[in-house]
Amino acid sequence: MHITLRRTDPLNTRTACLIVGTFADRWRDPLLLELDRRLGGRLLEARRAGEFAGKANETLLLQPAAELPARRILLVGLGPHRQAGLEQLRLAAGTALGQLRGKRLNDCACALPLLDLPRTTPADRIGAVAEGLLLAGYCFDRYLTADRQPAGTLPSAVRLLAGRGAATPEEEDALAAATVLAEAVSLARDLVNEPGNVKSPAWLAEQAATAAAAAGVHCTVLDRDELAREGCGALLGVAQGSVREPRLIVLDYRGGRAGDAPVALIGKGVVFDAGGISLKPAEKMDEMKMDMAGGAAVLGACLAAARLKLPVNLVGVIPAVENLPSGSAIRPGDILTSLSGQTIEVLNTDAEGRLILADALTYARRFQPRLVVDVATLTGACIIALGHHASAVLGNDPALVQALRRAGEQTGERLWELPLWADYDQQIKSDVADVKNTGGRPAGTITAAAFLQRFAKGFRWAHLDIAGTAWIEQARPCHPKGASGVGVRLLTAFLRAEAGTAG
Ligand code: BES
Ligand code: MN
Ligand code: ZN
Repeated sequence: MHITLRRTDPLNTRTACLIVGTFADRWRDPLLLELDRRLGGRLLEARRAGEFAGKANETLLLQPAAELPARRILLVGLGPHRQAGLEQLRLAAGTALGQLRGKRLNDCACALPLLDLPRTTPADRIGAVAEGLLLAGYCFDRYLTADRQPAGTLPSAVRLLAGRGAATPEEEDALAAATVLAEAVSLARDLVNEPGNVKSPAWLAEQAATAAAAAGVHCTVLDRDELAREGCGALLGVAQGSVREPRLIVLDYRGGRAGDAPVALIGKGVVFDAGGISLKPAEKMDEMKMDMAGGAAVLGACLAAARLKLPVNLVGVIPAVENLPSGSAIRPGDILTSLSGQTIEVLNTDAEGRLILADALTYARRFQPRLVVDVATLTGACIIALGHHASAVLGNDPALVQALRRAGEQTGERLWELPLWADYDQQIKSDVADVKNTGGRPAGTITAAAFLQRFAKGFRWAHLDIAGTAWIEQARPCHPKGASGVGVRLLTAFLRAEAGTAG
């Protein structure tokens, strides 16, 4: 699907399908009124008949005879004007593409960027519509053999209609940026959707190295022996139950001034989490191939930052392991010595994410980062707290948490803060080691963050728990069911803002 910018009048555009946006309470819009007039009143008639009210993600497909050069008109709703923002626009674009999928249309024209959306520029709207279309076009079909290919054909070309005059450089940039972001999200989704038998830690490291090289990001990979020499006892403890050896993937992008302290991003990369000796129940265990979604988000964000040439120095650290039960696996009660020197009593081998993140946080320290953000599918408790519509954010620096939340609002990848009061630390005190890796059932997301905090002393740090948002069981306007790619756009927006304020 190739997206271009055009400056033509929507109602005089020859196309297989014209996509037009509608607010539920703005039917006096000049484009809609003119469209209604040209269609002999069919639009307002459809509204009166209750066929189409302009509610968010509602659609109506019309087939004009000869009244317009467009062969079809696809109306898509955005809900009430006052509540609409870039996210509603993204979703409307995604919904529209969903309706056109499989129809074997070639060229479509999309008038969504022309909508009068409060507090947005034409470039913002072009970016959001392009993102929505591209994200909705994603599909993971590499394991469907020829006769099982879904009827998933997309329009081959979409022209975004963007007002009169020549397209501005800002608008062209917004379209280019949307393409970069959508590609980074697609890569993250692909990696998360990939089954466990394919994605060993070594495979993940190879994928990261290949993608990094193509984007001009430096990538180094530590293998098991190197991790042992470093003293990553917590990470190695998790890894020892699997014959597939761990890797530590380190990405380095220098877009900022030489000598400026980097931002460090850390992503949980558990390629499959069976729970270890504290084995998970069989039901839905297959979904635990998504336990490297934090790592995929960090990789995607590093690639996007490099491709967008953001003026920021950036380090990405992805600990990649597999958590399996076996004769060589760690046991409940084992005590591990982490890279930081702190000892950890492993009471539940299924609380493995915090163990590998502990060593990754300590490893990141050597880059003297000005701030650290980790991203992880860390706790089932996070799904209980927030469901599938927001990720949790916790941290030791209110301004950093605020900046991340803002990026979340901007991208539609919303964050909700949970408290990290010192009281919760009581729950992870151990009698025999410095800390234990579980705090029991109450406040599971918070006690996991309290554990990580012990390894983030001395730097600004925030933790994102994406357990509920990384894997979505029901298709949404901008992605099919499965991996959402959450975190890529969020972190990139955060980095963009950071780069702006830092410079
Ligand atoms: N990867 C899981 C968390 C998870 C669960 C992510 C469901 C996505 C969906 C994590 O490693 C885990 O197993 N956490 C345990 C921690 C507990 C043993 C303290 C959990 O949440 O049950
Ligand atoms: Mn686990
Ligand atoms: Zn896990």
